[in-house]
Amino acid sequence: MRITTKRLLIRDLSFRDFDDYYEYAVKDTIGPMAGWKPIPNEEVGRRVFSGMILAKDVFGIEYLENHKMIGTISIYNYGIRKYKYVKQLGFSLNDSYWNMGIMTEVVNSVIAYIFEKTDTMVIEVGHHSDNYASKRVIEKCGFLYDGRLCKYKELYDGRIIDADFYSMTREDYERKLKYEGTKTKI
Ligand SMILES: CC(C)(COP(=O)(O)OP(=O)(O)OC[C@H]1O[C@@H](n2cnc3c(N)ncnc32)[C@H](O)[C@@H]1OP(=O)(O)O)[C@@H](O)C(=O)NCCC(=O)NCCS
Repeated sequence: MRITTKRLLIRDLSFRDFDDYYEYAVKDTIGPMAGWKPIPNEEVGRRVFSGMILAKDVFGIEYLENHKMIGTISIYNYGIRKYKYVKQLGFSLNDSYWNMGIMTEVVNSVIAYIFEKTDTMVIEVGHHSDNYASKRVIEKCGFLYDGRLCKYKELYDGRIIDADFYSMTREDYERKLKYEGTKTKI
């Protein structure tokens, strides 16, 4: 997958991205909010990052201004809904780039890509109930609230968290296009 937006290139990951990934994956401000344990050292980091490359459902977010890989977006072929026309999104961003509208730009372009290029019927996305930045990104992109799953899952550190889930159907997407008046170029 390759999507170019105003400031970003969303593309396959490569081993050349490792240092950029490691820079933020070690931080305890990022992984825990998305449910993953901060990377403890380079050896573990290389193993985890290789897994992400091989999985083929995680994509790098490259900041065009400096060509740095500043985060990832995952497009999973499964979700809460149990049939094949469902995708679920997950995302993380280096905190040096937070609150610049970057993930909103990424998610909007990925939504357009999925509905324009695949036969997906519905995209799901969720966040830990106390993750207000993620909630805001999801709202800004026009997802509709499905509800809260209380005591949704146990994290690596034993915390059991509530999670809020949202979805966008193909019909919602068509309405969003009409409302916004433009199509995101993909
Ligand atoms: C969630 C995340 C990807 C957001 O990326 P981002 O590029 O900063 O998002 P955007 O700039 O597009 O939007 C962030 C919005 O959240 C708001 N926000 C940020 N922190 C907030 C907080 N603590 N409480 C309320 N709103 C908050 C910002 O003001 C902004 O909203 P606005 O445009 O209305 O002002 C980033 O914070 C991150 O990587 N967090 C750690 C990992 C994570 O949580 N991943 C998501 C898992 S579901």
